[in-house]
Amino acid sequence: MLVCRDLASLRSATARLREGGRRLGLVPTMGALHAGHLELVAAARRESDAVAASIFVNPLQFAANEDLARYPRDEAGDLAKLAAAGCDLVWMPPVEVMYPPGAATVIEVAGPSAGWEGDARPGHFRGVATVCAKLFLQTGAEVAAFGEKDWQQLQVVTRMARDLDIPIRILPVATVREADGLAMSSRNRFLTEDQRRRAPLLHRAMTDAAAAIAGGAPVAATLAAAEAKLHDGGFAPDYLALVEAETLRGLDVRRADGPMRIIAAARLGAVRLLDNIPVG
Ligand code: PAF
Repeated sequence: MLVCRDLASLRSATARLREGGRRLGLVPTMGALHAGHLELVAAARRESDAVAASIFVNPLQFAANEDLARYPRDEAGDLAKLAAAGCDLVWMPPVEVMYPPGAATVIEVAGPSAGWEGDARPGHFRGVATVCAKLFLQTGAEVAAFGEKDWQQLQVVTRMARDLDIPIRILPVATVREADGLAMSSRNRFLTEDQRRRAPLLHRAMTDAAAAIAGGAPVAATLAAAEAKLHDGGFAPDYLALVEAETLRGLDVRRADGPMRIIAAARLGAVRLLDNIPVG
């Protein structure tokens, strides 16, 4: 497995991997890898001939009140996991390679960036869209795998690649969950033992609400009941909403046509958990 930290070595490594029309799959990450990331590598591998993963803790996507320095890092552990997963290349640019002094271009995606995480984390999706566009262009990958766990991010990146005519296919990969339903996330390591025991309630409350709404129960009352369950379980919900799957527009009645999701963000102590599930 090759590890590249500058653009010249990345370009010659990806040119070699793509020789003879071989397709390159990309798995963008910020490191602190868990089984969910390794599932992205496996999915990218199924859809391409060689796989590159990037590890870059992107300062541009952290809001002013978020602690970039506290983001978990484990370079040696991550490289070992990627090698074992059969990754061919790891792209680990230092910040000054990704954003050289004087860098002045950012990508702003309207539409699916609005609301939810866009409100909770101002500037977050600008940072995600900018770094993903750069990763797509730097690697020339044909396919990029993203977890459904960050549903709004998946829609923002898909919209951005489509709007900018970047010749890459965004491959959605189902959320990987612990046995009790908790969605895998790098943030789970910050849960105390007591919080970890409570955490699966988020997925349970969402699953119950999705089943009720699919069965015809009124949307507002069902979501309010789910939020009340979360409060009782020690959560402080930021939002719990029914949305159009692609546009993230909030819905107060069930759609008859087109996919819907329930999306949620809720705090357990200092840890903010995100999840989403399809409805119907
Ligand atoms: O989901 C993440 O880990 C990040 O937002 C991503 C897509 C790697 C961009 O920095």
